[in-house]
Amino acid sequence: MSTDAMELERMMATCRRPARVLAVTSGKGGVGKTNISANIGVCLAASGRRVLLLDADMSLANLDVVLNVGSRYNISHVLSGHKSISEVVHPGPAGLGVVCGASGLEELADLSEFQRRRILDELSQLSDDHDLMVIDTAAGISRAVVGFCLAADDVLVVTTPEATAVMDAYAMIKVLSRHEYKGRINLVVNMADSPAEGKKTYQQISNVAARFLGVHVYDAGTLLRDDRVLAAVKQREPVVLAYPKAPITLSLGALAAKLDSGANVGKRQAGFFRRVADLFF
Ligand SMILES: Nc1ncnc2c1ncn2[C@@H]1O[C@H](COP(=O)(O)OP(=O)(O)OP(=O)(O)O)[C@@H](O)[C@H]1O
Ligand SMILES: [Mg+2]
Repeated sequence: MSTDAMELERMMATCRRPARVLAVTSGKGGVGKTNISANIGVCLAASGRRVLLLDADMSLANLDVVLNVGSRYNISHVLSGHKSISEVVHPGPAGLGVVCGASGLEELADLSEFQRRRILDELSQLSDDHDLMVIDTAAGISRAVVGFCLAADDVLVVTTPEATAVMDAYAMIKVLSRHEYKGRINLVVNMADSPAEGKKTYQQISNVAARFLGVHVYDAGTLLRDDRVLAAVKQREPVVLAYPKAPITLSLGALAAKLDSGANVGKRQAGFFRRVADLFF
């Protein structure tokens, strides 16, 4: 390669930015994290973004069900040295990449320094090759879930109007605030019976967060309860593809666009995986 081409390649490499990371989390289980992650991932991939979806909820491993991707291999096969990172990225709809078993990243702690460095380098490459990574976390405020959220550029907290879900969503926001989370906290109210109920739920949480934590919670909107979500899961297709003209699809598209445009564009020092590694070890 000529000297000028080499110089150009070097400049391109330094310009490459790691993917922005959005962690989708909730507090309470069963509020719609996996369906929302999958569908906003599909919407953003369809709009031309290079999107990687990470399933960090090993308990049910259900992103593969919603998106109908085969998930024979996951992060644990990378950690054991049997697969390379690129071999565990499964092709999903609209060009979306899906990686299962991200919750197992904690096992990085058990590896030798050499192995860990190799895997972190591979993971960083994955981050460089995408514009956005969406992490579907497990429910609750375990160390791993909180770690993923703290390492993410932005967090989407999912709640429903139900009192227990509201309390748990607030508990998650409180934990993030206690850790002085620097990213943007967005809230979406899912399975609301009306836009007014969704708005009221958002206001309850954002008012208390502002008053007691001094934290601004961004309004990511409301998703109404819609039987098509479950019907689509049964067809093993994301609802935005199964019912492209349905109101729920328009709402999910609007949510994806809002999260994309309202992204926290603060300066990122290191890639996401390195931040996770720094938090865990
Ligand atoms: N807007 C909606 N309208 C109707 N049903 C919905 C809606 N959103 C999600 N659901 C249904 O709620 C159930 C839980 O959704 P999902 O698995 O996405 O939640 P989760 O938060 O990822 O759960 P977990 O905490 O177990 O990971 C599913 O049966 C799903 O089809
Ligand atoms: Mg889930």
